Amino acid sequence: MRTTISVIKADVGSLAGHHVSPEPLLEAARAELSRARKEGLIEDFYVTRCGDDLELIMTHFRGEGSGEVHSLAWETFKRATDVARELGLYGAGQDLLSDAFSGNLRGMGPGFAELEFEERPAEPFVVFMADKTEPGAFNLPIFRMFADPFNTAGLVISPKLHRGFAFEVLDVKEGRVVELSAPEEMYDILALIGEPGRYVVRRVYAKDPREPAAAVSTTRLNLIAGKYVGKDDPVAVVRAQSRFPALGEILEPFTFPHLVAGWMRGSHAGPLMPVSEADARPSRFDGPPRVMALGFNVRRGRLIGPSDLFSDVAFDRARAMANEVADYMRRHGPFMPHRLGAEEMEYTTLPQVLERLEGRFRAAGD
Ligand code: F6R
Ligand code: MG
Ligand code: MG
Repeated sequence: MRTTISVIKADVGSLAGHHVSPEPLLEAARAELSRARKEGLIEDFYVTRCGDDLELIMTHFRGEGSGEVHSLAWETFKRATDVARELGLYGAGQDLLSDAFSGNLRGMGPGFAELEFEERPAEPFVVFMADKTEPGAFNLPIFRMFADPFNTAGLVISPKLHRGFAFEVLDVKEGRVVELSAPEEMYDILALIGEPGRYVVRRVYAKDPREPAAAVSTTRLNLIAGKYVGKDDPVAVVRAQSRFPALGEILEPFTFPHLVAGWMRGSHAGPLMPVSEADARPSRFDGPPRVMALGFNVRRGRLIGPSDLFSDVAFDRARAMANEVADYMRRHGPFMPHRLGAEEMEYTTLPQVLERLEGRFRAAGD
């Protein structure tokens, strides 16, 4: 029996601004998923929120991209949207881009990361959920987990990891993917994924025998090939231990709050702060961008856990560093590189400003 973990998320309304998906929405989602579990559609679930995103973590035996599971998520988000509308929450239903479900969530607004595999006798994994950022925000930490020997000791000293991992990279602009193998093609991988607004790590595989190791939601980015489609607060699933990185090797990259795109109006860069589930409530300048991590085991489809991994005091320093970097970045105000470049901004008045000034521009001369 192959188990699938489906993490599906959408912003269907939030409290006090683009701030936090409140408890009544989570309750509505739990009610829907409880019913589906009783009916045998899914095996188990955990509902949470990261900032203004409602997160459905589900297990089932129906494979990746299952129409039934995607439809369940869609109906659940619609039910939560009804509650958001009743409560007059901000942005009710904002991520449900279509009126009718058509077999799969691709192109419909919600983001998803799914991994199907044969369960090992013990199957530990981590679900990452981030807010006020984009899928490329996971490029750096995922590279470190699966390819950086200074992060992942196992790449050097464990025979099970020594052969390295394969990376599937999505080119957001061209709507195409390429698979590259680490460590042999490490510099090529970095040449691409060092530009996270354009190239995004979508999946990682263990090599010989090939097995899925990680998946990142790139759903919306994949929407319209050839066109930059903007950001989507991402989720990721990463398998742990044995022939995958150890739990601590998976979490270690987040001790460095690297700069990511997506803060305030999706138009600013800021540090990615690792936080507990309780602290995934961005409020300073609508941020700074956050990531939370829940650890589970799955056994014949049943979820054991979660453990709130970034609640560990060992991440306090990363949070303090993120706050310092946030202060530093904020002092740039509307200047780049705090403000993103024109191509990446979600909001911009630049065309209007240029149009208004058109007649006043004159040749620079010497
Ligand atoms: C960032 C985000 C927020 C909003 C901002 C303005 O991803 O969600 O920073 O962009 O609060 O929101 P509106 O335009 O809805 O007032
Ligand atoms: Mg939002
Ligand atoms: Mg969000």
